[in-house]
Amino acid sequence: MSDSDDDPPQLSAAAMAALQEFYTEQADEDRKLKEAQTGKLEDFTPQENWQLSQFWYDEATATRLADEALRVVGSTGRIACVSSPTLYRKLRDVKPDNCTVKCLEFDDRFQVYGEDFQFYDYREPLKLPADWKNSFDIVVVDPPFLNEECLCKTAITVRFLAKDKIILCTGAVMEEVVKKLLNLKVCVFQPRHSNALQNEFRCFTNYDSELLDKS
Ligand SMILES: C[S@@+](CC[C@H](N)C(=O)[O-])C[C@H]1O[C@@H](n2cnc3c(N)ncnc32)[C@H](O)[C@@H]1O
Repeated sequence: MSDSDDDPPQLSAAAMAALQEFYTEQADEDRKLKEAQTGKLEDFTPQENWQLSQFWYDEATATRLADEALRVVGSTGRIACVSSPTLYRKLRDVKPDNCTVKCLEFDDRFQVYGEDFQFYDYREPLKLPADWKNSFDIVVVDPPFLNEECLCKTAITVRFLAKDKIILCTGAVMEEVVKKLLNLKVCVFQPRHSNALQNEFRCFTNYDSELLDKS
């Protein structure tokens, strides 16, 4: 570092390296966003933004949830992925052509999914297209926060969207509230995330699922 006040400030080698890494990650993210906007959506998974409580499923979890949702709805059903964009992405890749999947998300980076994207803020739980009322064969939801207020408002959305079947992924600590608000029971299968989380996560359903009732 220079002693003179007139000299521009110098960064240490470690700070330079960290800055360089940041710029490289940003450039990579921008490239993926651009590719996604021009139609190449295969590997579009933006970086987790922890301010938005974003923790993406690992591949095995996204696959298990997608397989279960498709098993339930069949080849022409409707699936709502609420606050679960990586499940939406998996379903988009593997679903039959006549199956409809919607991505209800707060993070507008997922607008790249075009008409499948629906902006959603759990704090306005019914600000959704009126004709979506009880129109989804299954609703899969992973609320952003582990508290009763968030789950309570999210539950209003889920009841509005669902014909009947629901899969909810959230922290194990929410089990009693989940039972009270939505009457779901805990499954054997445990959702996992690509960046390991400290909190134990669980999966809850309001129906018996062979696929989710094994580890
Ligand atoms: C715990 S993560 C679940 C993501 C899921 N594990 C996945 O891999 O797709 C919570 C999700 O809620 C979204 N979210 C953040 N704030 C929200 C809000 N106010 N309303 C609804 N969703 C929100 C985040 O963007 C994130 O996708």
